[in-house]
Amino acid sequence: MAFPPAFLDELTARNPIEEVVGQYVSLKRSGANLFGLCPFHGEKTPSFSVSPDKGIFYCFGCHKGGSVITFQMEIEGLSYPDAVRALAKRAGLEVPEDEQYQSRYRQQERLWALHKEAARYYHSQLYAPIGSSALEYAYGRGMTKSTLTKFGIGYAPEQWTGLTDHLRKKGYTDQELRDSGLVSVSRKNGNLLDRFHDRLMFPIIDVRGNIIGFGGRIMNADSSAAKYLNSPETLIFNKRKNLFALNLAKKSKLGYMILVEGYMDAIALHQYGFDCAVASLGTALTEDGAALLSRYTDQLVLIYDADAAGQSATRRAIPILERAGMQVKVLQMRDAKDPDEFLKKFGADRFRLLLEESANRVEYQLNAILKRYDLRDDDQKVKYLQESADLISTLGSAVRREVYGNRVAEAARIGPDAMKLEVERARKRRLAREKKQQEKIDLSPVRNLQPKSRAIRYDNVRSAVAEEMLLALVLQEPALLDHTGTLTAEMFSSALLGKVYDQLRSRHRQGLEVSLGGLVDLTAEETAHIAGVMQRRQGPVNEQALQDCVRTIQGEYQTGQVQTQEDLLALRDKLKERKGIKE
Ligand code: GTP
Ligand code: MN
Repeated sequence: MAFPPAFLDELTARNPIEEVVGQYVSLKRSGANLFGLCPFHGEKTPSFSVSPDKGIFYCFGCHKGGSVITFQMEIEGLSYPDAVRALAKRAGLEVPEDEQYQSRYRQQERLWALHKEAARYYHSQLYAPIGSSALEYAYGRGMTKSTLTKFGIGYAPEQWTGLTDHLRKKGYTDQELRDSGLVSVSRKNGNLLDRFHDRLMFPIIDVRGNIIGFGGRIMNADSSAAKYLNSPETLIFNKRKNLFALNLAKKSKLGYMILVEGYMDAIALHQYGFDCAVASLGTALTEDGAALLSRYTDQLVLIYDADAAGQSATRRAIPILERAGMQVKVLQMRDAKDPDEFLKKFGADRFRLLLEESANRVEYQLNAILKRYDLRDDDQKVKYLQESADLISTLGSAVRREVYGNRVAEAARIGPDAMKLEVERARKRRLAREKKQQEKIDLSPVRNLQPKSRAIRYDNVRSAVAEEMLLALVLQEPALLDHTGTLTAEMFSSALLGKVYDQLRSRHRQGLEVSLGGLVDLTAEETAHIAGVMQRRQGPVNEQALQDCVRTIQGEYQTGQVQTQEDLLALRDKLKERKGIKE
């Protein structure tokens, strides 16, 4: 959506980036910048920078960056227009809405309200006579009344149009009912029918507290219907980008989060005091889900079911969670198939013991390796030792290598020294390999200057460096844009940098703010890249520096032109030669 540029300038001015970021990150000043621990990836030393002058943030570790609007989008998981709205609200500004977006937002708000109404309806049915067996089922599964209230659990009665009628009475249109996914169209006669029948209903709530969908469980074990039925994807519901119970878990004071497979597991954990539990929504954990989690914690305990499916899901989830910057521990379910069953059988104290001894990912992976080999067979024993040594060699601390090495040696009944030797050998091989790779990188200056993001590549690095420098200069001193002479965007070797130059120059001419926040039409990656350029490229800001850049860009551009002309001439000659044409 296109908000008026003047409004965006006002918005940026009224939301100083250091204040907005400061609500989430504790910042310390160092020179012109403020530094803190990056909220987007796990880290112990601050590489997250905020420049109040430039109005940008940039993380030198994970390379996220952008304007105050970008920050708001990333930290709250909002779309661009929603982030603008949130900042406007914060600053007490009225948002000039584009017709199309306004109607889309209104539509969303109607759906949120509709879902709230539906949840109220389902919840009331649970306590109505029609819901008596559902209530009995819920109590039978150990849920307390306060849990039922906290999670807003309800009952969808065995009726064709119970919810449909109720929502119509509340003023929702048939179109809205269809858009909500809670109602479906009968194939026979086109009538609207409830989607959920005779199911225990779990509202799915996003981190802002809006009800966005439902999961419904059948209660009759003999039924041939799917055990769980979830809302379909709608304008407000995306399974991959939401987690069950995160709206509650994000407020937990426990300092870590627990990720489980099922609704019932998350609910039981909360009821037993582990108010930091969340569940993925009937799908495998996605990158989006992990990114969402990592906003609230960097310590994650993974507890998937004890069965084979749970174990393979664990294997797949570990790297996704680690890539999102979390430290992962894995709790192996024992004597129960899932946390829900465990808590009911053994209680919270025994569960706490399990949690305490829950293995970090190394222990977990060592166990997984152990399970694949039969140690009575010498051949397999050797393979087990080598594979374990490989894994242990990745550990940075010598103490940890020794501890885990000893443990493996014991399991295989060999001496600790032999194992230590094996680990050190694996480690030397690894370090040599890494050194070689690093040398390759160091020796290639071109590669070094390439942007971190793969989607952005520089064809002419010499020119691109000058282009970056130039943008950094004019973003700091917009008046310099009056002195770029005949330099045009086409002369830039990088289409992205050229586009940014073009936009900045035309904003400057219109008397608008020359800032990162004013740029339009850039992907998140591109915005982050430009923020990185602004934070990295430092140097004197004056016309001399600007002219150096302009000269380089124009020079490289002309050389490129000449080269292509020469290439064309040469190509023509070659063709002529081949065809035997003489001039
Ligand atoms: P209980 O069986 O009531 O203890 O529930 P659970 O949450 O432990 O379920 P289970 O471990 O069988 O499944 C884990 C999660 O996978 C559920 O919470 C659902 O999100 C999802 N799931 C399970 N069965 C189905 C199904 O038949 N259809 C869909 N769409 N999702 C399912
Ligand atoms: Mn279960």
